[in-house]
Amino acid sequence: MKRVLHGNLIFAPACGTVTCIENGYLVYENDRILGTFSELPERFQSASVEDFSGRLILPAFTDMHLHAPQYPMLGMGMDLPLLEWLNRYTFRAEARFADPDYARRIYAQLGKELVRNGTTRVCMFSSLHTDATLILMEELERAGISGYVGKVQMDRNGASYYQETTEQSKAETLRFLTACERFADIRPILTPRFTPACSDELMRWLGSIANERNLPVQSHLSENTQEIALVHRLHPDTERYWETYAKFGLWKPGTLMAHCVYSDEVERKAIKDYGVSVVYCADSNINIASGIAPIRQMLTEGIPVLLGSDIAGGAQLSMLQVMQMSIRGSKMKTIESHWTTPFLSVAEAFYLGTSAGAMYFGEQPGFSAGNRLHAVVIDDRRLPDTDRLTLTERFERAVYRTEPGDIVAVYGNGRRLK
Ligand code: GUN
Ligand code: FE
Repeated sequence: MKRVLHGNLIFAPACGTVTCIENGYLVYENDRILGTFSELPERFQSASVEDFSGRLILPAFTDMHLHAPQYPMLGMGMDLPLLEWLNRYTFRAEARFADPDYARRIYAQLGKELVRNGTTRVCMFSSLHTDATLILMEELERAGISGYVGKVQMDRNGASYYQETTEQSKAETLRFLTACERFADIRPILTPRFTPACSDELMRWLGSIANERNLPVQSHLSENTQEIALVHRLHPDTERYWETYAKFGLWKPGTLMAHCVYSDEVERKAIKDYGVSVVYCADSNINIASGIAPIRQMLTEGIPVLLGSDIAGGAQLSMLQVMQMSIRGSKMKTIESHWTTPFLSVAEAFYLGTSAGAMYFGEQPGFSAGNRLHAVVIDDRRLPDTDRLTLTERFERAVYRTEPGDIVAVYGNGRRLK
């Protein structure tokens, strides 16, 4: 059955470009977009119309790096740098997910809060626990969220109460991969926590199954200076962090690397040449005082960049707030460079948080025909002077001023979720 969303359509067809169709029509059938129009074509006149005239209809958001078991610690404990933060707070928080009842309760709430904020697609880290990870996938599916979820692999440098043996990690990863065949829209991703937490043997095994089974990989790269020094001590044969993933077959097209704060020219070239994607997590990088990634520079160099909330290093679940922080972080880089480098524009951050994520999942940018329908409807009429503003101005203000209550409808895979 054909359906229509009627309202101000706003989307990013390219990085830095925003298209606005004033009181336009988005036509979709089942879960697929058929097209966007400023006048409703004759052939769709009989379709049922959901009337959001006067409101803003945007693509829903993609959060390409977040840690589900850190959701309960969101907004706390950001007073230590990465390695101490992991040991003091994070491993303890994640270890609680050994309890399936706790996992069920927390993950049901996470799914709801993601949808309330307009996030419908994710690339997520779970904990070490296979059962809790499957519960997470069930709860995301129930909420209508799709994407990738990974059971974390970690066989060293964890805690006495939160670490696997190499054999356990392999066996549980295989059990996880088999168990998630039952999910349609949430797929598994291999998730070695980061080089310090994985033995060479585990990394080698993960690299071999990534390639045998054609599985995607996500991890962390060059986030913090102490972390980088530790990686050098663990892998004295490598010059740069990325090589510790590459030597085990984990550095390949589609691999997602969060942060890349300290990726120099050589590491950035390796990212580009191998088709790896960078997930920029500005809020996290500032909260746990890691540093600021040269993200605008990476875009200029043609590196694929995505955005992540990285909760609970990041303290914002809302991808609109993540977009704001991405711009602020980029502006700090501009200040540091004495204004010799440009910063991320609102249009660019919006592209990264919507279209770039959709493209990672194999779609076209914006509301392209053929994409699955992922959309949010924002009612900005409580804000001052809305009648006088252009749609471009209202779009920019929506990035900075939207509260969850202003998101009046959310669609994921063609289904209304809110
Ligand atoms: N590096 C390894 N684990 C983590 C984590 O949980 N959060 C962040 N921000 N970086 C990491
Ligand atoms: Fe992270």
